[in-house]
Amino acid sequence: MSEGLFITFEGPDGSGKTTQIQRLKALLEERGIEAVLTREPGGTPIGEKIREIILDRENGEMDSLTEAFLYASSRAQHVAQVIKPALEAGKTVICDRFTDSSIVYQGYGRGLGDRVRVINQIAVQGLEPDVTFFLKLPPQTGKDRIKAEEQDRMELEKIEFHNEVFHGYEELERMEPERFIAVDAARSIDEVAGEIRLHMCRLLEKAESEMKTERQE
Ligand code: TYD
Repeated sequence: MSEGLFITFEGPDGSGKTTQIQRLKALLEERGIEAVLTREPGGTPIGEKIREIILDRENGEMDSLTEAFLYASSRAQHVAQVIKPALEAGKTVICDRFTDSSIVYQGYGRGLGDRVRVINQIAVQGLEPDVTFFLKLPPQTGKDRIKAEEQDRMELEKIEFHNEVFHGYEELERMEPERFIAVDAARSIDEVAGEIRLHMCRLLEKAESEMKTERQE
C-alpha cells in the first residue's frame, strides 16, 4: 500500500486554520479519502500535557531554548505515535502546524535561527509535509481576531514578535514555493476554502497519475 499524503497548515494566530482544516477534511471525504486530523503542539496525550506547559500564561520565565525543545518533544511523540503510523497505513494526515511553526516562532520570533532546524531534524525522523497551506494574514489582523482574555502565552507576545514570525513565513514561501503554498486569508471563509480546494484537486490528480504510471511500469 502506498503512503498517505501529509498535509500541514500554517499561519499567524487567528488566521482561520481550524475552520479551513475542517473544510478540507470534508472535501477529501467527498472524494472517498479518509483523513486523520491532528494538531501541534499536542496530538497525543503526552503532547497535550507538553502543550499545557508551553501555553500556560504563568510560565513567563520560560527560556527560548526550553520552549524550542518542548515543541520538538511534543512533535517527536506525535510523529512516532500518530503521524507515521497513519501515513504508513495509507491514510491522509492533516496537521494544524508542524516544523515550520518552530522555524518561524522559535527560529525567527525568538531569534534561535538554524538551531531550530537541527533540533527538529532529530525530532521528526526525516518526515516532511507533502504540501503546506500558509494562511497568509497580516499579524495585527490575526491578533485583533482573538479576544484579549483568551490569548495564550504565545499570543500575548508583542506585535514585533508576531511581525518577525510573519517575516519567517514569507521567507519559507520564497524558499519553498512548490510545497509552501500561500493563500490570502484576509478573504471570506468560502473564498479561502475555494482556493485550497483548487490546489488540492490539482495535487490529487498529480498523485493519481503518478500512481498509474507506477502501476504500468
Ligand atoms: P495553536 O494551537 O495553533 O494556537 P491556536 O489554536 O490558539 O491558534 O498554536 C499554539 C501556539 O504555539 C501558537 O501561538 C503558535 C505556537 N507554536 C510555536 O511557537 N512553535 C511551534 O512549533 C508550534 C507547533 C506552535
